[in-house]
Amino acid sequence: MTVQQQDFSVWFEGHILAIETSCDETSAAVVTGRTIESNIVSSQAELHRRLGGIVPEVAARAHIESIVPVVQEALDRSNRVWGDVDAIAVTNRPGLFGALSVGATFAEGLARARSLPILGIHHLEGHLLSPVEEHELDFPHLSLIASGGHTEIVLVRALGDYSVVSETIDDAAGEALDKCARLLGMGYPGGRAMEKLALSGDESKYAIPIALPKDPTRFSFSGVKTAALRLVESQGPNLDVASAAASIQEAIMQALATKTIALAEQHSVPQITVVGGVAANRRLSEILSYEADRLGIRFAAPSPVLCTDNAGMIGLAASWRFAAGERAAEPIVAFPQSPLP
Ligand code: KG4
Ligand code: ZN
Repeated sequence: MTVQQQDFSVWFEGHILAIETSCDETSAAVVTGRTIESNIVSSQAELHRRLGGIVPEVAARAHIESIVPVVQEALDRSNRVWGDVDAIAVTNRPGLFGALSVGATFAEGLARARSLPILGIHHLEGHLLSPVEEHELDFPHLSLIASGGHTEIVLVRALGDYSVVSETIDDAAGEALDKCARLLGMGYPGGRAMEKLALSGDESKYAIPIALPKDPTRFSFSGVKTAALRLVESQGPNLDVASAAASIQEAIMQALATKTIALAEQHSVPQITVVGGVAANRRLSEILSYEADRLGIRFAAPSPVLCTDNAGMIGLAASWRFAAGERAAEPIVAFPQSPLP
């Protein structure tokens, strides 16, 4: 099902309770129309930081512990009560199976107990819709999804009509940032810490090569990690850590931006968006908005809280689908892998 530009004002009138547990954030939101009334995110980052990365079983267990208070807080913050909820939306794909299953089972139970309509939402469709509360979207547009688990460029012809036009052949951009941050002695996840440190460094101090510079249809970030490791080993105690962070960040952001801009020109789109955790990076937005200006096209990025995983974006994706009359016909189950709808 797709919604064309002229139908774009069609959003679900009722109140949607949205739930997101696909990775390491337990999140719940109340969304009405295209407005996010509340968006509560309980991060497990501290827990995984101690373990050096995400441990799937630990993530699932933490979701079980947090989901009830997080959902209750989402209702409280929006000044809504259970009787106000008209529909339930939950991320059911892709992601960590155990983590997704906690949200899907909880949401399915709620929908049955309260006889409410429910929809399972694709996590990446949530990211694609994350700018709509704050920005008007043009169609078609090109969206760069850059997060810890995904790096791809999607041609969005209409809501529900998506084609992946570029993707990574190895690591995701956020994953590469997180691995390099760890090599530089920062905790998990490292993207934000790296951005802060990079502000006091010189991005031209160290050469960090990026693979496949001439091919916008493929990303490759595994070499960045190897280059960072060599840098750390070769410089030893003389390493200028801030400049290493700046050089690594610059290489990754330039690769993301250059390919997105090349494809924007190729597909003649009037707008580009950037979404996902890495979209919170100021340097990335700076390069993309400068290049978009140069091409005379529009650029949109959501505010940082809507970049990283959150249920608000899942509610926005559900809002147009509910408005278009969609309802799950089968019980919601989790799918660890799934292409965009
Ligand atoms: O979208 P997200 O919360 O989770 C996934 O779906 O993966 O993205 C998390 C990723 C992490 O790799 C984190 O390091 C990165 O987003 N990230 C950033 C920034 N904030 C979060 N990367 C660069 N700059 C930031 N400011
Ligand atoms: Zn995500």
